[in-house]
Amino acid sequence: MVVTDWQQINASVQTWFKEVRCQLLAGCETKLQVAKKSGRTDLVTNIDKQVEKYLVTQIKQTFPGSRVLGEEGDRDQDLATYQGLVWIIDPLDGTLNFVKQKDHFASMLAVYENGHEKLGYILDVINDKLYWGGPESGVFCNTARLPKVPDLFLDQGLLDVSGRMLIRNYRNVAQVAEKSMGVRVYGSAGIGFIHVLTGKTVGYCSHLHPWDHAAGKILAKAHGLSVKSIDDNELDVLSSNNVLVATKNAKNDIIKLMRKR
Ligand code: IPD
Ligand code: CA
Ligand code: CA
Repeated sequence: MVVTDWQQINASVQTWFKEVRCQLLAGCETKLQVAKKSGRTDLVTNIDKQVEKYLVTQIKQTFPGSRVLGEEGDRDQDLATYQGLVWIIDPLDGTLNFVKQKDHFASMLAVYENGHEKLGYILDVINDKLYWGGPESGVFCNTARLPKVPDLFLDQGLLDVSGRMLIRNYRNVAQVAEKSMGVRVYGSAGIGFIHVLTGKTVGYCSHLHPWDHAAGKILAKAHGLSVKSIDDNELDVLSSNNVLVATKNAKNDIIKLMRKR
């Protein structure tokens, strides 16, 4: 049996993310090629594609036999049953923020082995902070272990929700927002996960695709937070879902209010 060298994987990913950060910052200084995907607010740029290509090339060269699921189209088959390394990639999370603000965006990577969660990475590009870890290591920000966050209730902290859910009052989210100390809409799943991990918010809720929630889910679970669907079900990593990451107490408060329609 071949034993996976997780230290080598972690060292490699950390090196790749240094280059990813350079590519994203360089992208902020150039004229972007921007295209629409599913609608006028769902954008992709040449930099999203460039970073995904870079990461997929590094993964396949360094760890041959790996399979990938990348947002921008690099997708291998049979990921659910694959025995080996599976990498889920969101090269640039918060593309709309990247285009409009050059701020509040992230890059994310999740690593699975034989269907088990192993390592998650979220790079806060502008602040040069890489959040990484998993069930075995715990969670770090750059080289420092991330302190655990208090198990606050909804009315003791700020809440981050997707703008779309808020505007449509999806599943009573307006009442949830009212019960919190205040609402924030950051527009990046990666930044949303980071804020719950660091205790800046008590919860983040949005409709997310696998590449939006894979890394954050690994990190949040390893950090003792709740990561479920808004119906309190476990998340399937290969499915899109209405995801709620929160402290355990805030999660109970939010789910109770979302059921009360
Ligand atoms: C999007 C952002 C946004 C979330 C969307 C995602 P993208 O990711 O994370 O905050 O609400 O669901 O698709 O497309 O910029 O990588
Ligand atoms: Ca994303
Ligand atoms: Ca993306």
